[in-house]
Amino acid sequence: MNNIILIGFMGCGKSSIGVRLSYGCKLTMVDTDAEIERQQGCSISELFASKGEAYFRQLETECLNKLLQDKERHIISTGGGLPLRKENQELLSQLGTVVYLRVKPETVVERLKGDKSRPLLQGDNPQEKVRKLLSERKETYERLADIIVDVDQLSFEQIVEQITRQIV
Ligand code: S3P
Repeated sequence: MNNIILIGFMGCGKSSIGVRLSYGCKLTMVDTDAEIERQQGCSISELFASKGEAYFRQLETECLNKLLQDKERHIISTGGGLPLRKENQELLSQLGTVVYLRVKPETVVERLKGDKSRPLLQGDNPQEKVRKLLSERKETYERLADIIVDVDQLSFEQIVEQITRQIV
């Protein structure tokens, strides 16, 4: 199924770019985080606190499996950690074209200053957490990507334009 799937680190713009692409391409948008929040009736932070990260990761995989059964084509925006699981990597490649929105750690730190909604970046030294997680994940994001867009220096519309030019 040729969906368009956006992957990348927290704060790279997956959800907002996804919404813009969905009306530009006239496709429905599915945001895996929003889907999980809706289904569980609570926020991601609450879910991490009550059930733990492993439980959340299992829900991400279930969400991808459901999408694979879906006959409709979508723009899919994923949570930043979703591509890390081996099982999800296989599912992503079956789901369609993977677009990696590559962002520098300093851009993430600037954009997510004061953000309270990402449990993995709370506590002391969020800058260090961003740097460490991004360097651990970088290779996986790059390996899975069919298309890579470096978003730091681009405007919102330039990012959309680069993606639409490259997707079929
Ligand atoms: C996470 C990213 C978040 C959300 C959760 C875990 C991660 O999504 O899924 O907090 O591991 O990078 P965004 O990338 O949309 O912020």
